[in-house]
Amino acid sequence: MTVFQAGDACLLFDRKGRRYLIELIAGAEFHHHHGVLPHDEMIGIEEGTTVRSSKNRPLTLMRPRLADYALKMPRGAAVVYPKDVGAILVWADIQPGNLVLEAGTGSGALTMALARAAGATGKVVSYELREDHAKLAKKRIKGFFGDIPDHIDLRLGSVEEGLSELRPDRIVLDVPEPWHAVPGAATNLAPGGIFCCYVPTVPQVQEVRRSLDQTGAFLDIMTFEIMMREWAVDGRSVRPSHRMIGHTGFITVARKLEPAGD
Ligand SMILES: C[S@@+](CC[C@H](N)C(=O)[O-])C[C@H]1O[C@@H](n2cnc3c(N)ncnc32)[C@H](O)[C@@H]1O
Repeated sequence: MTVFQAGDACLLFDRKGRRYLIELIAGAEFHHHHGVLPHDEMIGIEEGTTVRSSKNRPLTLMRPRLADYALKMPRGAAVVYPKDVGAILVWADIQPGNLVLEAGTGSGALTMALARAAGATGKVVSYELREDHAKLAKKRIKGFFGDIPDHIDLRLGSVEEGLSELRPDRIVLDVPEPWHAVPGAATNLAPGGIFCCYVPTVPQVQEVRRSLDQTGAFLDIMTFEIMMREWAVDGRSVRPSHRMIGHTGFITVARKLEPAGD
């Protein structure tokens, strides 16, 4: 659907390349330092259209990519950066039909990416400890998809609860102490399944690697980080951007053996 409707997320670009993420609401107004734009003038028009504010400033409307939405949406918990989300999807090999057990839902950024990759034939069961984060994540997921897709199951509680009940194909963790989930993953992750966690510091990596090794239930364990450097391209001036995201997190992935310990 390329025509914007009330309730849709919309990304507005001004001529300087600044972006503004809004939810289109009938009767509401977008206030920009270069004028006002009624939402009603954006509802019903095509993606890619340029409209003009009350001060005749052009604003171009696009549907946000998931990466734009995750970075721009108001949030409680820090999100996984898009560069890392891409690597998690690939190295945890999230694919249609997977049952993915995730924690914590946080702001829902990774949940949405996992759900897209697992598809409607799969399922993402996402646990979150904090009620305020869970509530906000639900709002953000609805804001992006229009509703909570049937294959996203948001649960309040600790990921260990899911481990005792499910036999997931993938476990994806962005929690401060992922090692607590490792014994459960060693027992309940499907054979050949993938454990993946995202942590910001070296001691956390050491702790989770120690736990994975101790179970003897995992093979092909790998830890890495992703660096992304944007380039500024302006005519003959082509150079790396002055600013970049220096550090976000370390990704660890491991494959589950069957039977455990052999
Ligand atoms: C950094 S945030 C996750 C952000 C999320 N990946 C995203 O992209 O929006 C970490 C979240 O994990 C939650 N958390 C911590 N320990 C948990 C556990 N054992 N089970 C479930 N959630 C947990 C925290 O409350 C917090 O909201």
